[in-house]
Amino acid sequence: MADSTKSATLSIDGQTYDLPMFSPTAGPDVIDIRKLYAEAGVFTYDPGFTSTASCDSTITFIDGGKGELLHRGYPIDQLAGKSHYLEVCYLLLYGALPTAAELEEFESTITRHTMIHEQMHNFFRGFRRDAHPMAIMVGAVGAMAAFYHDSTDISDPRQREIASHRLIAKVPTIAAMAYKYSIGQPFVYPRNDLDYAANFLHMCFAVPAEEYVVDPIIARAMDRILTLHADHEQNASTSTVRLASSSGANPFACIAAGIACLWGPAHGGANQACLEMLKEIGSPDRIPEYIARAKDKDDPFRLMGFGHRVYKNFDPRATVMKQSADEVLDLLGVENNPILATAKELEQAALADPYFAEKKLFPNVDFYSGIILEAMGFPTSMFTPIFALSRTVGWVSQWKEMIADPQNKIGRPRQLYLGDTARDYVDIENR
Ligand code: CMC
Repeated sequence: MADSTKSATLSIDGQTYDLPMFSPTAGPDVIDIRKLYAEAGVFTYDPGFTSTASCDSTITFIDGGKGELLHRGYPIDQLAGKSHYLEVCYLLLYGALPTAAELEEFESTITRHTMIHEQMHNFFRGFRRDAHPMAIMVGAVGAMAAFYHDSTDISDPRQREIASHRLIAKVPTIAAMAYKYSIGQPFVYPRNDLDYAANFLHMCFAVPAEEYVVDPIIARAMDRILTLHADHEQNASTSTVRLASSSGANPFACIAAGIACLWGPAHGGANQACLEMLKEIGSPDRIPEYIARAKDKDDPFRLMGFGHRVYKNFDPRATVMKQSADEVLDLLGVENNPILATAKELEQAALADPYFAEKKLFPNVDFYSGIILEAMGFPTSMFTPIFALSRTVGWVSQWKEMIADPQNKIGRPRQLYLGDTARDYVDIENR
């Protein structure tokens, strides 16, 4: 960590405390409160971590006001336009863009780790047919700890690296298998002659009965979806992975914890929830009713795919995703789809409404990714698993960074206790 450059003064009941401050390379200064409880006997209170930096990191930076997202300093629009998913994975994991030789070796390593242990197939068969693919993913990724014992010793940097490669390589296979299982089709093994995105599409859509050729435009759009979701600094699922790993838990269990957190509709589940909402709205003439519901304080309904904790201007990922949506929809000739027509009008109606403008609620990445995935033929239940497989590299990179950090200690938040004070147990006959 950088040296403290300035300090903040806190005054409590006439007693003052000097708190060191750190200046980041980008973003707001932070006040270091680590010794506050020891010195002043008070906790800070910040449920939802709206003003709290939980760690230091060199991986991803977001400026929510500017709508900027940088991975290792590189803007997301440049990466989405000029790079591709596996190169971005390398960048996130190792901190620099690879040379041609490094990239070739990395791609070959990931490609050659895509098969999962054959015995894991039996594990899948234990799930009900109608299980949500995210439920299967939480279980199957956690179960990897039982199959890959030679990469669970987190004190060994080489084992950490192997676990990282295995996770990036095998999570798509697990996601595709979860899908195939849910529709009663045979599992499709990975193919080493296809790139990462094309291989995933092949594992999802090929059947043994006939040849399946991956369209390069669709593969490129899938690669973009993966690239745009690769990492997003200390969001809920990444913080979950960090907190789970802070106890020294094995990497597969920690990534399973991240998948569980991502599943929620306020986070990665928003892409599924958004498309289901668009289907429920059904046609553009019902949009005013739903906008009114979203604005009604007594109605819990929210416009899914709108708003973001950090982006208060626009989501830079959404800008790129919107272009991709247009390309894919043109290619597939689905511009007359009623869901898409509803989505386009909803976007315009919300952007023109003062409620959404005042609260800085803009379409986020999930508003557009759901539309693309639907057009590609994925059921809504696969949207969040695809987010999970893209984000695996982010979780793994943040996990690796944390484990290698000598300051790493178990995460243990405190609380503002508002319950009963100590009282005596009352025997059951006297209650
Ligand atoms: N529709 C209607 N009102 C909204 C929405 C929405 N989508 N999002 C926020 N608001 C209102 C909210 O009611 C509140 O109003 P008030 O100040 O009058 O009480 C105000 O805006 C601030 O909301 P908040 O819940 O305090 O903001 P937050 O930063 O805690 O929540 C969010 C961020 C993403 C959870 C929220 O905007 C939301 O629930 N959006 C819909 C779900 C969604 O699309 N999530 C995907 C996020 S992008 C993918 C990812 O990174 O996981």
